[in-house]
Amino acid sequence: MLEIRDLHATITTADGQTREILRGIDLSVPDGEIHAVMGPNGAGKSTLAHVLSGRDGYEVTAGSAMLDEQDLLAMAPEERAAAGVFLAFQYPVELPGVGNAHFLRTALNAQRRARGEAELDAVQFLKLARAEIKRLAMRDDMLKRQVNVGFSGGEKKRNEVLQMGLLRPRVAVLDETDSGLDIDALRIVAEGVNALRAPRFSALVITHYQRLLDYIVPDRVHVLAAGRIVRSGGPELARLLEAEGYAAIEQAA
Ligand SMILES: Nc1ncnc2c1ncn2[C@@H]1O[C@H](COP(=O)(O)OP(=O)(O)O)[C@@H](O)[C@H]1O
Ligand SMILES: [Mg+2]
Repeated sequence: MLEIRDLHATITTADGQTREILRGIDLSVPDGEIHAVMGPNGAGKSTLAHVLSGRDGYEVTAGSAMLDEQDLLAMAPEERAAAGVFLAFQYPVELPGVGNAHFLRTALNAQRRARGEAELDAVQFLKLARAEIKRLAMRDDMLKRQVNVGFSGGEKKRNEVLQMGLLRPRVAVLDETDSGLDIDALRIVAEGVNALRAPRFSALVITHYQRLLDYIVPDRVHVLAAGRIVRSGGPELARLLEAEGYAAIEQAA
């Protein structure tokens, strides 16, 4: 269970001002559930994802984020990853000169080492990776290319989902994984996430639009506005937002 309690976080802007972006987030995602976080631009959705993953540049000023009994906020980013926290980025980075297969195997083996599991050799890894690639209807040459270099927007997102399929996280946070995807790629990504549904897997799917939630049916939907969860409901809440926009909810909050 991922349990976020009264989480506050600030950033320091380029001109030295401190701004509170997260203003008391309360959110629990039980094992086996997929929750959506929706909200207007600038609400703090990406900030929440970054703070959970331990990215630099944010200061947590109050609150907690626990994965089972583990205090995520007290852990280094790589410790959070080893504990099973996975963040799929809104803008995946390109790594020129780094082969994708090497990159993915290094990431997987780092986590296996941290958990005291045996590392996979190149042959074992390729077998696993090819199976995941097939499951995600991706092209085999994805592994031979440099990480995200020259990948289309859709290929980058699929590569994130491939990485997730290999790492099998406890909690996946997908930050606008749907942006830049055409409808076929959207379905493949959604199916990739759906296929990970398991008793020990949970996900926070962050999205601005309802579209992705036609394919990944969330157990709960939360609306984030101005740094707080202002409303939670079932999948019907996403459709309501699509129809009515965020304005009414923001006003009510
Ligand atoms: N590094 C930064 N410097 C200044 N402002 C930032 C920085 N990162 C985020 N913000 C501000 O924090 C707010 C929330 O941003 P973000 O979490 O990216 O929102 P969302 O993902 O919901 O669109 C926005 O007003 C944004 O301008
Ligand atoms: Mg964002």
